[in-house]
Amino acid sequence: MSSSRKEHVVICRDLCVHTQNAAILSSVFFSVAAGEFLGIVGESGAGKTTLLRLLSRRVRLQDGVTISGTGVLPPEVWLVAQENVLYDHDTPLSAVSFLHRLLYESTTEKADDEATRLLLRVGVPELVIRQRIGNVSDGISVGNRRLVNVALALCAKSKVILLDEPTTGLDSSATAELMRVVREVCHTTGCACICTIHQPSDEAVQYFDRLVAMNGGKMYCAKIPRRRWWY
Ligand SMILES: Nc1ncnc2c1ncn2[C@@H]1O[C@H](COP(=O)(O)OP(=O)(O)OP(=O)(O)O)[C@@H](O)[C@H]1O
Ligand SMILES: [Mg+2]
Repeated sequence: MSSSRKEHVVICRDLCVHTQNAAILSSVFFSVAAGEFLGIVGESGAGKTTLLRLLSRRVRLQDGVTISGTGVLPPEVWLVAQENVLYDHDTPLSAVSFLHRLLYESTTEKADDEATRLLLRVGVPELVIRQRIGNVSDGISVGNRRLVNVALALCAKSKVILLDEPTTGLDSSATAELMRVVREVCHTTGCACICTIHQPSDEAVQYFDRLVAMNGGKMYCAKIPRRRWWY
């Protein structure tokens, strides 16, 4: 899919976030087309989460923090935050099914079917779907928590999905499979996805349509490597 012929659903021009002492984001320019899967890599503290939080309109202005820039952003943006947001008494199935019923006024049966399909699609094991989410110490794994959050995002069918480190806790094959599924969703539904990834592997990054790198609050173009990924 060529992004150049598609409508750009996210456009950021000269985005800056400054504290009194430092630049967290520094003159960031970028755009994302409908149906595009954009990857963002960068070391810890590079500004990846700040950028996604800004795009999800979740940044509250604190004393001494200034934000500037212009751009285009649709109202329907779904953020999968770096921290998992799930209720411990839920199961993956009840969490996604509830959202489905809420958004589409579907019957319990249809919502459960759709939730099961989405959870299996992103890679939640069948045995885990009806397990209590619980706490990290006694519930489902960190990786499966991330996958449930991604399933919620896919259930919402937003125009733009922001995934902040969705692959935390996943092994390399589950990571690659999740990336493959998200790419497929972008290309088939036309939703745009911006995804940060902390420890990129060759296998995972090959699924991005485009890759950018962040460092010290600045954004740079990055090449998707064919054979080896140096990072
Ligand atoms: N509201 C704020 N006030 C002051 N500093 C902030 C604020 N928000 C973020 N920062 C700082 O901005 C920098 C970028 O943080 P951010 O969380 O965006 O990085 P990141 O690339 O997501 O890192 P990680 O890979 O660890 O998640 C960090 O040094 C952080 O401490
Ligand atoms: Mg982060």
